[in-house]
Amino acid sequence: MALYSDKVMDHFLQPRNVGTIENADGVGEVGNAKCGDIMKMYLKIDDDIITDVKFETFGCASAIASSSMATELIKGQKVDDALKLTNAAVAEALDGLPPHKMHCSVLAEEAIQAALEDYKSKAATD
Ligand code: FES
Repeated sequence: MALYSDKVMDHFLQPRNVGTIENADGVGEVGNAKCGDIMKMYLKIDDDIITDVKFETFGCASAIASSSMATELIKGQKVDDALKLTNAAVAEALDGLPPHKMHCSVLAEEAIQAALEDYKSKAATD
């Protein structure tokens, strides 16, 4: 069996939503100390709905595929629903990741949560 699913390869080779958002409503950056990979998420939020999301990932194929899939999963979602996105759901949507690559999907969950927390803290001070 191939190490990576077709979906992982597809999202790695043609990642969706790569880039940045100017004046984003929420930005979150996380890293994995062990491998040194970094992921940054940008959110545009209108009326509690995530209307746009972009990412920059300096990392492995699984991290890039996880970022890409995670952005697709939360686009159009309510903030509170997006907060519930787990790394397991991201990995499942990719038709699985090798066990030693599951931590890469954790970065996607954490980056989105960090961006949503940033949005919430900004909204609280407005
Ligand atoms: Fe670091 Fe994949 S090896 S995120």
